[in-house]
Amino acid sequence: MELCCRAGAAATTSLAWSNSISPSLHSLLHPISVEYLSICHTKSSIRVLCLNNNGTNGSNTQSQKGNQMIVSITGATGFIGRRLVQRLHQDNHRVRVLTRSRSKAQLVFPVRDFPGIVIAEEPEWKDSIQGSTAVVNLAGTPVSTRWSNEIKKDIMRSRISVTSKVVDLINNSQDDLRPTVLVSATAIGYYGFSETQVFDEQSPSGNDYLAEVCREWEGRALKVNKDVRVALIRIGVVLGKEGGALAKMIPLFMMFAGGPIGTGKQWFSWIHLDDIVNLIYEALSNPAYEGVINGTAPNPVRLTEMCEQLGNILGRPSWLPVPDFALKAVLGEGASVVLEGQRVLPMRAKELGFSFKYPYIKDAIKAVVSEK
Ligand SMILES: NC(=O)c1ccc[n+]([C@@H]2O[C@H](COP(=O)([O-])OP(=O)(O)OC[C@H]3O[C@@H](n4cnc5c(N)ncnc54)[C@H](OP(=O)(O)O)[C@@H]3O)[C@@H](O)[C@H]2O)c1
Repeated sequence: MELCCRAGAAATTSLAWSNSISPSLHSLLHPISVEYLSICHTKSSIRVLCLNNNGTNGSNTQSQKGNQMIVSITGATGFIGRRLVQRLHQDNHRVRVLTRSRSKAQLVFPVRDFPGIVIAEEPEWKDSIQGSTAVVNLAGTPVSTRWSNEIKKDIMRSRISVTSKVVDLINNSQDDLRPTVLVSATAIGYYGFSETQVFDEQSPSGNDYLAEVCREWEGRALKVNKDVRVALIRIGVVLGKEGGALAKMIPLFMMFAGGPIGTGKQWFSWIHLDDIVNLIYEALSNPAYEGVINGTAPNPVRLTEMCEQLGNILGRPSWLPVPDFALKAVLGEGASVVLEGQRVLPMRAKELGFSFKYPYIKDAIKAVVSEK
């Protein structure tokens, strides 16, 4: 026996909750556009289903509202996450921000600009993940900082603990409410540093601390249920105005007239913020995106070239070197990512036909510098 009843009140209530989850009722009413409640009476139980306006239940197919996704995101309040949330929200996907701090997330995603976004603190992550179609995992203590022993531990610990938690919650979800895809961040630090080698997704891992962090981080993500598609994005140095290494380096260039850093021969494997967000977005929706995918532009450059381009665009001469100590002062030991470097190529993204908006560093830097 199946009973359907109009649930106007429920729809109103779910909208009123749209910025904070009520754990007990959320799993019952998780589609925002709940219009009908269906009570299914089987031999052994009565099941209440939330039907959206297409009459589908809240199970994790992308058929809800056409291709609408429900995406839970850790680290959504960060540099990459913020732009990803904007993109998903703009395209009418439903976003659940998994954060350590509701008040911080509410500042980053004010309800007037992001109506309907769910903000969930840790105890509510379970109800957020269950019923999402996809999860993006971006959380972790920033790497470009001064590394005390404590911070180094935290760089590892934060990534392992958030990734393990997310994976456990996905694995423990009810089968019909389990997300079908996990896109998890990792970094090109996986490969270690080299001035001569070229790395692609098949290359072995390095021997240093960051390589170890990336291996552990990826290992945790791979423990997810075998029915869940996993894309591990090994992210390069992301160029954007609002965060990342370049934003910290621009003032330095202005101060030191902007020349090469160190020997200048180090490789700089970069990606523009729009491209990394597009890559993650594509990985969410395209089933061909599976396994390790390097998130770097197709044309990495030596640091001298990056500095020359940056100097030209900023109108600074590029002969006076930026001293290592100055870069270390703003990036801490995390400066090793820039000062040592590696040449990483996005083989998988190319095979998958991913189209980079910014394949060349000159255009990427220009876009960043002219961003309002
Ligand atoms: N940006 C790059 O150039 C780059 C390059 C390679 C790899 N990646 C990786 O990509 C991911 C996203 O990068 P991003 O630049 O957007 O990072 P980000 O701006 O530093 O933001 C990361 C988010 O992680 C959460 N977080 C911070 N410390 C944490 C801790 N101790 N425990 C748990 N969560 C913590 C925070 O969210 P809440 O406060 O809301 O919880 C924060 O907003 C990171 O894991 C990063 O390592 C980035």
